[in-house]
Amino acid sequence: MTTFDRIYKESITNPEQFWSEAAEAVHWYKRWEKVLDDSDAPYYRWFTGGELNTCYNALDIHVENGRGDQAALIYDSPVTSQQRTYTYSELLDETARFAGMLSEYGVGKGDRVIVYMPMVPEAVIAMLACARIGAVHSVVFGGFAANELAVRIDDAQPKVIVSASCGIEPGRVVEYKPLLDEAIDTAEHKPNACIILQRDQATASMIAGRDHDMRVLMASAQPHDCTPVAATDPLYILYTSGTTGQPKGIVRDNGGHVVALKWSMKNIYDIDPGDVYWAGSDVGWVVGHSYIAYAPLFNGNTTVLYEGKPVGTPDAGAFWRVIAQHKVKCLFTAPTAFRAIKKEDPEGKLIKDYDLSGLETLYLAGERCDPDTLRWAESKLGIPVIDHWWQTETGWAICANCKGIELLPVKEGSPTKPVPGWDLRVIGDDLKEVEAGEIGALVVKLPLPPGTFPTLWNAKQRHHEAYLADFPGYYKTADAGFIDEEGYVFVMSRTDDIINVAGHRLSTGAMEEVLSAHPDVAECAVTGVADSLKGQIPLGFLVLNAGCERGHDAIVGEIVQMVRDQIGPVAAFKQAVVVKRLPKTRSGKILRGTIQKIADVEEWKMPATIDDPVILDEITEALRSIGYAKKQ
Ligand code: COA
Ligand code: AMP
Repeated sequence: MTTFDRIYKESITNPEQFWSEAAEAVHWYKRWEKVLDDSDAPYYRWFTGGELNTCYNALDIHVENGRGDQAALIYDSPVTSQQRTYTYSELLDETARFAGMLSEYGVGKGDRVIVYMPMVPEAVIAMLACARIGAVHSVVFGGFAANELAVRIDDAQPKVIVSASCGIEPGRVVEYKPLLDEAIDTAEHKPNACIILQRDQATASMIAGRDHDMRVLMASAQPHDCTPVAATDPLYILYTSGTTGQPKGIVRDNGGHVVALKWSMKNIYDIDPGDVYWAGSDVGWVVGHSYIAYAPLFNGNTTVLYEGKPVGTPDAGAFWRVIAQHKVKCLFTAPTAFRAIKKEDPEGKLIKDYDLSGLETLYLAGERCDPDTLRWAESKLGIPVIDHWWQTETGWAICANCKGIELLPVKEGSPTKPVPGWDLRVIGDDLKEVEAGEIGALVVKLPLPPGTFPTLWNAKQRHHEAYLADFPGYYKTADAGFIDEEGYVFVMSRTDDIINVAGHRLSTGAMEEVLSAHPDVAECAVTGVADSLKGQIPLGFLVLNAGCERGHDAIVGEIVQMVRDQIGPVAAFKQAVVVKRLPKTRSGKILRGTIQKIADVEEWKMPATIDDPVILDEITEALRSIGYAKKQ
């Protein structure tokens, strides 16, 4: 038995022993009474009875242990030509005062704070400050439109919103404040206060009495100490796409989160305290929560916060510059970032301009890693490239090649094996486990390990229906795939209407809700189609009202703008086509999967339940008219 197999087995056969040992590395005010509380199964809780503080485990503990002068966070912003390094002492000081500032506005244990911020250090400081006083943060990605923000405000009901005057996208300044104002106007819930970071690139106009200048408040803010919270108290809510326009509020609790993330830094990423770790993502996504803000700090690392893109800021050598300059040991990003770099610099010529000798490993996640990208990265960097699979819900990797335990041979297209703690199975239509190599639903036998999600915010029933009801005793990942004879996992596709655009998770259902609100649209469908840069992009199909004589281009243009205005630019919804009818089953379900396969020229079978097969010919013709459904 290999070391990896032995450790994996221990984690599955005796999870309480396994995770209580990991929990010894964490600071607790009060030790837990039960490692795994199964009294309300299938709703399991970890470390019940325990008390701790997440911010203490990220900052104070390191200052007390002599890391005060070590860099905790490096802010590297090519879009503003700025760089700033915070030592652990400085980050602690800023965070403690930020916490004091929040508490002045009445924020305390259990209160929610929405953080709608670009990639600036104040975003991480706001998150840590909430953790410090036991408040629950909910970070909203900057690329979402006002309407998406409004939905989150109404669900989370924040006391305070922390935001900035603007974000910076290559070539344009995105003013956040008008979006925030519109969202608050739309939402039924109103926050007590908005604390705004005024950036040099745009000045936000402030509403007297409600809006406050962050810098002014911080100048006189008093530090706030850590508030002990229960291990099972919520640390944050992170909204992610579900199958409807109402996003799911993934809840993360405090205890299991620190334990699992700290464990993951050594065991998955092979990172030791003091090393520099860079997750090239955004704080608005789960990768940013877990691996920009929290895990590297729990582990005493230096985390890099990069406000830029892989290309265009200023060129396809941007990532190599950051790695060389800050001596990054481990980089984590999405395959799409590497596809973008490869497209601009296929030979990898820019790599030679930088000393990348300190970079030991590249981790990829967020979408399926195509073999071309994997091979390109391996050959150009000459280091292990590790695909790992996880979800917003899980908070950390379900499958990975755990370099810190034992580096296993890589199989292209596979994120390797289930990580210790994850009892992954593949289940067929008959609800029975399938043979090795057979495709089925990827499910995890309960309990999920610590650091995952105990529930959905305000939606216990939806949590049950979406994740637990279909396969009793298991967590449904909503990914399909198989496990081969050697235990390697292959994640093939989603089983729901979620698509993955440039590593961003989006709901086609939410886009359809926007499309169907157009006055000329009788019926619509959105499906993800293959894209060489973003992996997938959304494509709309519109059936117009009988008698509508308006030009199709004008309607499509309006539809594209509506999605941009209501969901946000991040949806990357740029194309739609008018069709006479949509292909459906006899019971009326739109055959989105079949449309996608036709568009991508994948093998497909005529669905037995199809209502009228001729419609597929019409769809194929429409797809060809816009460049899809053609053999390369
Ligand atoms: N605020 C406002 N707008 C934003 C935004 C933000 N924080 N982030 C993205 N957008 C906008 C972009 O400007 C773009 O707008 P456009 O349609 O006017 O061009 C749109 O949303 C789509 O953004 P994106 O998906 O990032 O596409 P892109 O073409 O700008 O860049 C990549 C493509 C591949 C370079 C980029 O997606 C990337 O770096 N991805 C890899 C890293 C990553 O984010 N992973 C996430 C999970 S690990
Ligand atoms: P998100 O919640 O945004 O992290 O998206 C999670 C989804 O992205 C998963 O359910 C998968 O469909 C997909 N995904 C993430 N990582 C991988 C991976 N390494 N391989 C295949 N799919 C992935």
